[in-house]
Amino acid sequence: MDILKKQISSKEEITVQAPGRINIIGEHTDYNDGFVLPAAIDRRLTVTMRRNNTPATANVLDRKRQKSFSFDLRNFTPLDKGWHNYVMGVVHELLKLGVEISGFDAEFEGDVPIGSGMSSSAALECSFAVALNELFGLNLGKWDLIKASQMAEHNFVGIKCGIMDQFASVMGKKDQVMLLDCRSLHFDYFPFELGAHKLLLLNTNVSHSLASSEYNTRRSECEEGVAVLEKIYPEITNLRDVTTGQIVASLDKLPEHIFRRCHHVVSENKRVLDATKALLDGDKKALGELMYESHFSLQNDYEVSCPELDFLVRQTIEKDYVLGSRMMGGGFGGCTINILEKGRVEEFLEEVSKNYRQAFGVDLTPIEVAIEDGAKSIC
Ligand code: GLA
Repeated sequence: MDILKKQISSKEEITVQAPGRINIIGEHTDYNDGFVLPAAIDRRLTVTMRRNNTPATANVLDRKRQKSFSFDLRNFTPLDKGWHNYVMGVVHELLKLGVEISGFDAEFEGDVPIGSGMSSSAALECSFAVALNELFGLNLGKWDLIKASQMAEHNFVGIKCGIMDQFASVMGKKDQVMLLDCRSLHFDYFPFELGAHKLLLLNTNVSHSLASSEYNTRRSECEEGVAVLEKIYPEITNLRDVTTGQIVASLDKLPEHIFRRCHHVVSENKRVLDATKALLDGDKKALGELMYESHFSLQNDYEVSCPELDFLVRQTIEKDYVLGSRMMGGGFGGCTINILEKGRVEEFLEEVSKNYRQAFGVDLTPIEVAIEDGAKSIC
């Protein structure tokens, strides 16, 4: 009897968790067919979903804010803004694959800080994609779910994001970072072991409104660069193909800001590969230096940082117990990711928190993260 009950309930209701992510290095490279080195973390979004026996009514509750929302699966369009678009976007993309989804009720809640560069949006999208796949037995593979979640953001949210966040949220593995080739989608897991050092995120607690509009602008600036470069180097189809020598030689062929955008992407791709090698060699110092280089490139060439992020990175520079620091994610706010000695965290936080408050009148939030598994159903 118990077994029978369990079987029925597992079809009728499911709870799925999908995590946010960190990225060790490789920013704004994913939509340029480049390399990234992310990992899933122990901050997650949890959704409980059940069939509601209606043909096409979806009811979704944001438990934290006690806000609910319903839509008709046969007829829905994006709203002005809000989390609803992530949910509807995922449903829309799954339906485009020709699957059948009937009415459901869902409740979600999470602890990935919003606007922190830790991808709470991918956690929301992927938790719904995985839950719908399992609840309705859609039989879609992980890559289908990752791509549907990414396209939800393109088509319903309006951000032409790359694939890194959704990939990390679904494919993450405990204690492992992943080197993803965003062109071939080939990836490898590597153990992330820092010994006497640890990862620490510092949330600036600011999120500048430029984030979404400038994101899409950067993407088109990269395309503008490729359009010029492919005339000079016909073998190029993307910034991924451009060598350091080629980009340096193109300085006077590209508008100045387009040159800098392209220069960031080309140099960042190399840094991701160098950082992976440093990690494998156990050379934490080299890894840290690459993180600093990444930050300065994002700040000066790609121009997606902000005064608060730059301030926090600058605060670490004279401290020999900090190996590396940089802004993480899309930019214009959110977190820095830092590698520092375990035994110095307290003293570090005391000093930097005070200075940050003095400079900006805002409190920063330190976030300790552990690398964990990607999305999965927990019951
Ligand atoms: C956001 C996007 C990702 C990626 C990063 C920057 O998080 O969702 O696809 O482009 O910014 O690396």
